[in-house]
Amino acid sequence: MGFFLIFFRYICIMSFDNDLTKNADPNPLGGIAVHYNKKTIEDMEMTGKRVLVRCDFNVPQDETGAITADGRIVKSLPTIRYLMGVGARVILCSHLGRPKGTVNPKFSLGPVAVRLSELLGQPVTMAMDTVGEDARAQAAALHDGEVLLLENVRFDARETKNDPAFSEALASLAEIYVNDAFGTAHRAHASTAGVAAFLPAVCGYLIGREIDIMGSALQDPKRPFVAVLGGVKVSDKIGVINNLLEKVDTLIIGGAMAYTFDMAKGGAVGASRVETDKLAYAREMMQKAEQMGVKILLPIDNICADRFAADAIPMVCGAKGISDKFMGLDIGPLTVKLFSQAIQNAGTVVWNGPMGVFEFEAFAEGTRAIARAIAQSGAVSIIGGGDSAAAVEQMGFADKMTHISTGGGASLEFLEGLELPGIACLLDK
Ligand code: 3PG
Repeated sequence: MGFFLIFFRYICIMSFDNDLTKNADPNPLGGIAVHYNKKTIEDMEMTGKRVLVRCDFNVPQDETGAITADGRIVKSLPTIRYLMGVGARVILCSHLGRPKGTVNPKFSLGPVAVRLSELLGQPVTMAMDTVGEDARAQAAALHDGEVLLLENVRFDARETKNDPAFSEALASLAEIYVNDAFGTAHRAHASTAGVAAFLPAVCGYLIGREIDIMGSALQDPKRPFVAVLGGVKVSDKIGVINNLLEKVDTLIIGGAMAYTFDMAKGGAVGASRVETDKLAYAREMMQKAEQMGVKILLPIDNICADRFAADAIPMVCGAKGISDKFMGLDIGPLTVKLFSQAIQNAGTVVWNGPMGVFEFEAFAEGTRAIARAIAQSGAVSIIGGGDSAAAVEQMGFADKMTHISTGGGASLEFLEGLELPGIACLLDK
């Protein structure tokens, strides 16, 4: 029987998905094999067991409800296929959007069930509720290898309150809990953390891969280690800057964030977006960098306009800075060169946040150029989720990157060095 199960699992791994074999080796970068100390789906006997799997199926949809990017569903397949392959009874759950504790068909996971069925090539049944009569009946009726998707956990107000009664109700559907929702691992909610108090709790391949690759980069990076931070607000990245300064050799700062640093240094930033209450923090970080021997690179020129609009006319503002009536909306060509040189020589690059307003074509070149430089660099490249992941995907560089995180806020908190509740709650090895 034991031999049969091992053989069956081998067949499943070989035949279902190449990605699964990739995920079976949790450290595609070589070097230290496993950084995380959490039990995984491979550490548990799953055959015939009802397994509750928390996924992050919070995918973007258009106004008709059609899914516009299914990356998060695709990346959850290795875990689901593994569990199906070993004969588990798979109960999937997730949130979608922020329905604020009320049942709202706009946020139903129905479209996800359809897409999952297509990707798995087998029906995924959908429960009409999360822990109600239908969910309980369908979970109990599952056969080995079958998959059920519960309705949006955030239709119940107890989810985001991490209410133990809701965690217990979820747990009562299953015998083992698997968290594979990296994108939501920074939330201490009932289905991401609370439920682990009621069931043996382990991580799936997606979470394992995320923490292994990002953990390797932070603990044992190939040097030089370059971090590229962008986006609008310094205040979103306070902890990240502070933590990364202790690990990197070079910190590149672009996006609107750079104008706060520039102003803190006495530069002319015109009408650019600046967080004046973060000027002291920016100065403190520049001092810290100097003390630690970390090079901070800021833009040396910018693409500016007289208004924030897609059809605004772009012009280059050089070394003298930005004059009063103009605002910086992207990094300039000399800056692209400066940043790209640092990236070309890097052993590891972590990127979080676009270099400009890449949603407007006239101000997308800086972000595109940095994506291209990272893609061509030969460095271990890790793209934080959210906007930078979207930019890389939209610009066609996704397959050139070592890792694109499925987490936006979660990857930021991970880079901050914080313990994520959805991971901390899992069983240690
Ligand atoms: C995300 O998209 O970042 C995650 O799914 C978490 O969603 P939330 O910010 O609504 O908790």
